[in-house]
Amino acid sequence: GAPETRTPTGAESGADPRTAGQQGPWLTTATGVRVHDTDHSLKAGERGPTLLQDHHLREKITHFDHERIPERVVHARGAGAHGYFEGYGTADTVTCAGLFAKGKRTPVFVRFSTVLGSRGSADTVRDTRGFATKFYTDEGVWDLVGNNIPVFFIQDGIKFPDVVHAAKPHPDREIPQAQSAHDTFWDFVSLHTEAQHHTLWNMSDRGIPRSYRMMEGFGVHTFRLTRADGATSLVKFHWKPRLGVHSLTWEEAQLLGGLDPDFHRRDLADAIESGAFPEWELGIQVFEDTADQTFDGIDLLDPTKIVPEELAPVQPIGRMVLDANPTNYFAETEQVAFHVGHLVPGIDVTDDPLMQARLFSYVDTQLSRLGGPNFNQIPINRPHAPVNDMLRDGFHQHAVHAGVAPYRPNSLDGGCPFHAGTDLSDEETRAFVEAAQAVTGHKVRAQPASYDDHFSQARLFWASMSPVEQEHIIRAYSFELGKCYEQAIKERQLLALAQIDPTLCAEVATALGMTVPEATSGAGEVVPSPALSQLTGGPWPA
Ligand code: HEM
Repeated sequence: GAPETRTPTGAESGADPRTAGQQGPWLTTATGVRVHDTDHSLKAGERGPTLLQDHHLREKITHFDHERIPERVVHARGAGAHGYFEGYGTADTVTCAGLFAKGKRTPVFVRFSTVLGSRGSADTVRDTRGFATKFYTDEGVWDLVGNNIPVFFIQDGIKFPDVVHAAKPHPDREIPQAQSAHDTFWDFVSLHTEAQHHTLWNMSDRGIPRSYRMMEGFGVHTFRLTRADGATSLVKFHWKPRLGVHSLTWEEAQLLGGLDPDFHRRDLADAIESGAFPEWELGIQVFEDTADQTFDGIDLLDPTKIVPEELAPVQPIGRMVLDANPTNYFAETEQVAFHVGHLVPGIDVTDDPLMQARLFSYVDTQLSRLGGPNFNQIPINRPHAPVNDMLRDGFHQHAVHAGVAPYRPNSLDGGCPFHAGTDLSDEETRAFVEAAQAVTGHKVRAQPASYDDHFSQARLFWASMSPVEQEHIIRAYSFELGKCYEQAIKERQLLALAQIDPTLCAEVATALGMTVPEATSGAGEVVPSPALSQLTGGPWPA
């Protein structure tokens, strides 16, 4: 059978004795000197004070003192697994990316996570779940850094610090540690009504998955696929779990939070250990790469919008199986560094302003989280493709680079042209080439009018729910808003609910013991957020 665990990636990793089981015959210091006693510090006499001279004591304690690294600023709590992706060959008509070729197998590492809780928080809280996949392809690393909800709270990455500040625990009491039931969160989403669609998904059963194995995953943004001949298409990525999508009931989630805060982590590891390997199909919705980048009136660059699968079916392009647990949580799950900008030839980004900010954010945060610029040399992050960069030095440099001319072309290190020793074109070398896109316009801090529609898709989601699911949503809003102290915030959120559905609003208002607000619009009507912003009395333009 398959191994229960797998060591970090990269053939070279086994060569370093530090990645071994630390079970050799001799205990040594970090510098390889055999230690004769690790249980007693060096003292001046049996009852005397400890001597500063004790190098082994100081090394042992110092290293221990620095064992922790900063937790991720978001998605701090996670669980990972190794596996493989196998292409179906069906994406060949839209992308030249080699990993989608029929029967091609590519190793992967996946990290599932909650978003808001700290590293030690409970698994079964109501939250979005991260679903990040690292594909170690022959052509370099591709990361698909997605979530289990297909839309996002904000439309422009410049608001990311704001939404996270609002959703994280209150700065004074650090309450709540994991879930959304608090004033700043509801303050934010009622003032920034673009967040209402994502919030509605959170309040549905999707917010409390039964298992990581039973979650969908979404790339959220629209991506651009490119073919060798330069033709492009716009796509949205979807992971579909073989086991179907299942949720906990609220009561189950609450009990598990107390009885087994590691429920999802345990479920994933146990399933893999027992040979019940979780599996997903990867699919794409494909859209023509038109100048306006819309489909059926839906702005494909607005990450608060989905494209209903009835309008654009998800076409399967491969499957992923997770068949091995990590050997060491810290080395793999904690040190893995995903990045939306890790792309391979054939897969490119779009101008979605949320995605554009992400392209900056991930490396930036990893520079401090992983202690400098060389985190791609950590075993779990090493590509399985040959690396020949011109990056040198820096904290924690593991390579001993030879050669005197770390630049290309040069005439010193054996005479290296740009692509050493070849006359190949970018296409022939399988180089990554950005899709050439025309850019026009004035430099402005503005967004298209289509981004002002904050409610039509929330209405669509609500209308697609069965009566039981709608009941769960009503109870979720009632519970979460019931934890708010500020009456004005609850009132403002009820007004947002009135824009989604009058019954939803009325039921939640009744549960909260509040007056049902007058709906300010009929269902189906698009009401841009400034209408709500007027209610805040704040500095918001009408
Ligand atoms: C981490 C998804 C938006 C900044 C993560 C992770 C996921 C994720 C899955 C966890 C990765 C892991 O397991 O290590 C998403 C999705 C987004 C989104 C689907 C929207 C569609 C943003 C935006 C920003 C951002 C707009 C900033 C402008 C970060 C940061 C981390 C993170 C700083 C921590 C990374 C680390 O410490 O390694 N995100 N995110 N995210 N995200 Fe996002």
